[in-house]
Amino acid sequence: MPLPISSLLLPLLFFVSPALSAPFEVPEFREAPAFRNGPDCSPENTIHIAMTLDATYLRGSLAGVLSVLRHASCPESINFHFVATSSPRRIQHLRRAVLSAFPSLPFSIYRFDASLVRGKISQSVRRALDQPLNYARIYLSDLLPPTVRRVLYLDSDVILVDDVAMLWSTPLGPNHVLAAPEYCHANFTAYFTATFWVHPTYPSVFSNRPHQPCYFNTGVMVMDLDKWRDGDYTKRLETWMEIQKKEVRIYELGSLPPFLLVFAGEVKEVEHRWNQHGLGGDNKEGLCRDLHPGPVSLLHWSGKGKPWLRLDNGRACPLDALWAPYDLLLRSGRDVLADV
Ligand SMILES: *[C@@H]1O[C@H](CO)[C@@H](O)[C@H](O)[C@H]1NC(C)=O
Repeated sequence: MPLPISSLLLPLLFFVSPALSAPFEVPEFREAPAFRNGPDCSPENTIHIAMTLDATYLRGSLAGVLSVLRHASCPESINFHFVATSSPRRIQHLRRAVLSAFPSLPFSIYRFDASLVRGKISQSVRRALDQPLNYARIYLSDLLPPTVRRVLYLDSDVILVDDVAMLWSTPLGPNHVLAAPEYCHANFTAYFTATFWVHPTYPSVFSNRPHQPCYFNTGVMVMDLDKWRDGDYTKRLETWMEIQKKEVRIYELGSLPPFLLVFAGEVKEVEHRWNQHGLGGDNKEGLCRDLHPGPVSLLHWSGKGKPWLRLDNGRACPLDALWAPYDLLLRSGRDVLADV
């Protein structure tokens, strides 16, 4: 009589390398299907996508990648640029996880030195927003090679349900550095402190902007890295972070307000369908959110709640069911067997 498979798996569970003093938990992922370019794809048109990578959000990042590839007309023309703050050894674990899910994906992992930004981060209303990795998007122009002249930055809690090429090809013209959906009905005043608004010079940063300064979400941005480098926008953002840290408290959120200070009123408008944000729920009570009216090309679980955590603890919001099909996590030995 053959041994039950479960008894074969059991010893494996205890075969954990004793050399790992500080455990770095990278779960296992299943391999995604291979996606092929359609007949009209040109080899010159590479799409560059930047995302962060860490153990906490890895599952979200990989689901995001899968969603991009699944809906892309030219999936093999997409190059991923992952940014991580982990040690080189841990980055090897993350690299292996990406490769296990996407063995032929063109990607690079760049190590972002957290000490570059740690001294510039002031504590915000939500601890998760204070992670150095949250600020990595400010440094993409330095991290990515100069041959990458445009990049689409995506948060690790997004799912695309449309062809990324449409978002990628947003025309930036000669003047725009950044494109993103804007929300002009949001109360812009509330993103900064009263101290900011009564300061003799700070509020004037918003005068002479080409259009009304409006809130935009920094989780989905098309960035012109050539113009960014030319205008030294990293330095401009850092200047505001230093004011916040060393002079006066001018905002309460994490990396978002510096972006508003530098770009609000100069952003190239993108259709709202490309950032249906807030699906993580409200930050106080964790209530479920519904979609905003209108078409949907990208779902964004911004806010405190994440779909993979809610699905795991049996308290999923209705829209989390839209995230679940992109989950590549292998949960346990039993799931592995159920899958094959
Ligand atoms: C916008 O926010 C500010 C600061 O929080 C508040 O004083 C003001 O009343 C708000 N305006 C509207 C129209 O809600």
